[in-house]
Amino acid sequence: MKEPVVIHKGLDNVYVKESKICFIDGEASKLFYRGYSIEDLAEHSTFEETAYLLIYGSLPSKQQLKDFENRIQSNRSLEPELLQLIRSFPITSDPMDVLRTAVSALALYDPQPTTEKIEERIDKAVRILGKAPTIIAAFDRLRNRKEPVPPRPDLGHAADFLQMLTGETPDSYDAHVMDVALILHAEHEMNASTFSCTVTASTLADMYSIITSGIGTLRGPLHGGANEAALRTVMEVGDPARAEDYVTKALGEKKRIMGFGHRVYKTWDPRYVILKKLGAELASRKGETKLFDTAVAIEQSALRHLAGSPIFPNVDSYSGVVFHTLRIPTDLFTPVFAMSRIAGWTAHAIEYLEANRLIRPKALYVGQTSLPYIALDSRAG
Ligand code: CMC
Repeated sequence: MKEPVVIHKGLDNVYVKESKICFIDGEASKLFYRGYSIEDLAEHSTFEETAYLLIYGSLPSKQQLKDFENRIQSNRSLEPELLQLIRSFPITSDPMDVLRTAVSALALYDPQPTTEKIEERIDKAVRILGKAPTIIAAFDRLRNRKEPVPPRPDLGHAADFLQMLTGETPDSYDAHVMDVALILHAEHEMNASTFSCTVTASTLADMYSIITSGIGTLRGPLHGGANEAALRTVMEVGDPARAEDYVTKALGEKKRIMGFGHRVYKTWDPRYVILKKLGAELASRKGETKLFDTAVAIEQSALRHLAGSPIFPNVDSYSGVVFHTLRIPTDLFTPVFAMSRIAGWTAHAIEYLEANRLIRPKALYVGQTSLPYIALDSRAG
């Protein structure tokens, strides 16, 4: 007898591979990259080191890290043709569309975009990783009628991004917060965008196609876009005193509180804990606490209303506030998430390719069959 078909809506609890990259214990508020806790990485690592760890599977030696940093750094400049292409984009473009298009276009300036060799695939990914911050910063400057600022070899990935965006060397604390934010966003197991990348990798497509599909999937408000939506909520509420009214009304209307809830975490998202602490410090150092305090008030109110449910704050409840305080424009939050997540996408694509099998699920057909074809002129309407 045929087994009854089970449809896994949202692919909830469906495993697509074994992995040594990331472990989330959603009940115990734990997140590990390659066995190292997110708390340790946020405290001791850098984005570059974390990217190396994710892609290569172990912490680098001093020399390996230096070489990897140099590889990223030497890829940060944009080819004149690519910069010209970005200049031609409408200044009203969504920066996520710009990043997706520019990353896809990078393949056109690679004499050999397709390769089956893993080390060469990683080279392509490092090329994309290096250029993503430059693409995002260059577009932001151009749309503000300013010239792009070239990358600086003396700065790390996070600091250089802020420098290319603002034209000023960031202070070391801002650079540190940015670096930690990149570490926290670098990887998160088999989420929607990582799955997209894995599906594309499974067809043996090139790294540009793989990362481009990840960027497209990350764009949606239920995934990468939630950080922007969460900040917009905090700004709309505007004052801690208005938080309770907002939350009561939103939940009463069955709306979702952005920055809350997670498919895997049924308790505190450990990235939220780290970002909230950094956000508090950043806000008080800059003497700009109102936005942060409003986010706290929304969180407290939502926690009271949602008590007893498994809905807790996720990474996005404070990432927007942190990015905003770092003077990053709101519509760059998701591109910033993407520029960090390229590390995780690459790690998963490479891991999957090591034991590849084309991903080809099924859909249960519930439509009709054998319908007689009706000529266009004979159809109603
Ligand atoms: N506010 C209020 N209620 C919520 C929320 C929320 N943020 N999230 C889930 N719920 C409720 C939802 O209404 C549903 O209730 P009911 O069963 O009465 O209809 C129940 O919880 C289950 O929701 P679901 O959509 O089936 O759960 P899911 O696992 O598919 O949702 C989620 C995960 C992230 C899409 C969802 O929590 C959500 O929409 N959150 C807001 C957007 C957000 O913050 N996204 C960022 C995720 S973290 C970044 C990342 O890792 O990508």
